[in-house]
Amino acid sequence: MRRPLVAGNWKMNGTRASVAELIQSLRQQALPEGVEVAVFPSFLHIPQVMAELDGDSIAVGVQDCASQTGFGALTGEVSVSQVAEFGCQWVLVGHSERRLVLGESDELVARKFVAAREAGLKPMLCVGERLEEREAGETLSVVERQLEAVLDLAGIAGFEEAVVAYEPVWAIGSGLTATPEQAQEVHAAIRGRLSREDAEIAAGVRILYGGSVKPENAQELFGMADIDGGLIGGASLKANDFGAICRAAGN
Ligand code: 13P
Repeated sequence: MRRPLVAGNWKMNGTRASVAELIQSLRQQALPEGVEVAVFPSFLHIPQVMAELDGDSIAVGVQDCASQTGFGALTGEVSVSQVAEFGCQWVLVGHSERRLVLGESDELVARKFVAAREAGLKPMLCVGERLEEREAGETLSVVERQLEAVLDLAGIAGFEEAVVAYEPVWAIGSGLTATPEQAQEVHAAIRGRLSREDAEIAAGVRILYGGSVKPENAQELFGMADIDGGLIGGASLKANDFGAICRAAGN
């Protein structure tokens, strides 16, 4: 049985005051026992979030990492070794905003995935197609190419402690959500691709859906066979909505 996981990607949002308020409200949410919950604040807010969660069961992750482990001369980057030292467990890799706005290649994303694994962190690998690609019937080949780059470098064993998040680019922050059937088709293809390498690992990998998930559509999405939870952007900044989405994953 795969334990549902709901993660909040706070992106480049928050001030010290708004983060304190969000954590306080999150701690008042009734979060279901059976659901794993994680939040991804900006690097600057990590120590504050860890301190204010104060032993709460919500895990903390970072939104990106350097592609090399250890320390060194790499101005502006944050190493997985530093992330691990702070007690974070998760790292987002390959979010479409980094791939498309900041030009991260499949290969760089794969190197970040491997670096995270080497530091004992759990990568959350984001994949997903752009609207033009979906319209051209290329959705599955795009997602498979993004997955392939990581399989090439990390091998299927790399996925034992990893999560995949399918986030169609056209659904992110747009209010448009993939239908449960559209999402399920891609999730099943991802699991199928991993299964060609190792059926047991593939059966255990959690595959999250992301893209305009809200309390109103969460239950239906999470009801699909291969959707094991969600990666939430906008709605994760509202404690009531995020709590409701976590509860939907527990049903
Ligand atoms: P939204 O939930 O705001 O569409 O963002 C999804 C996302 O990009 C999470 O990583």
